[in-house]
Amino acid sequence: MPICLMKNALGSHLLAELRDERTPPQQFRRLAKSISQLLVALAAQNLPAESITVNTPMESTICEKLSDDIVLVPILRAGLGMLDAALELLPCVRVGYLGLERDELTANAAPYYSKLPDVEEKIVFVLDPMLATGGSAAHALQMIYAKKPKMVKLVCIVAAPEGVNHLTAEFPELEIICASLDRELNHKKYIMPGLGDFGDRLYGT
Ligand code: PRP
Ligand code: URA
Repeated sequence: MPICLMKNALGSHLLAELRDERTPPQQFRRLAKSISQLLVALAAQNLPAESITVNTPMESTICEKLSDDIVLVPILRAGLGMLDAALELLPCVRVGYLGLERDELTANAAPYYSKLPDVEEKIVFVLDPMLATGGSAAHALQMIYAKKPKMVKLVCIVAAPEGVNHLTAEFPELEIICASLDRELNHKKYIMPGLGDFGDRLYGT
């Protein structure tokens, strides 16, 4: 399973500010949106395209357009912090929502909401900023793969090796796009150095 790590000086700069414990929610939301745009652009770099003829004001020329339907699936809540960024770059998409929440003691994820459009033969971008144990993403991916998509990409901001290994074993065709592969999980299954609880920092809870 390929993992695609962002190599972008601006992305590293944005991630440093996101990680900083002093960053307040208002700024955190803006940074999350900016870095998500870089990540979505990275996720889209090898999407299937088709040639079309475009008349510029000067002459006709052959251009490339994305050829496949794309579905965005943010994982609630934290994935919502990436959705606007993705919609600005990819306005003509459908959006599905999956709600998953980790138990504070066990870190096991439990699903609480699901509303997916038809994803059969579509390209799906799953948006979740934090890949820790991989439990939340695995739940989401099981639901999505059951509907026979053409291709699935998990777009996250920070990943832990444990989560990447978990998903690698379970979903060999998945591509993970992330800004940073961090060191490890701590005993509470939080990513180290990470950035804390993304949903709480996004919404000030
Ligand atoms: C966070 C995050 C991921 C999950 C990652 O969500 O947004 O969905 O944890 O952890 P995992 O890889 O160990 O499953 P959380 O459960 O805190 O819910 P929230 O987005 O509502 O804050
Ligand atoms: N979810 C988060 O928001 N942060 C972590 O470090 C792990 C899971």
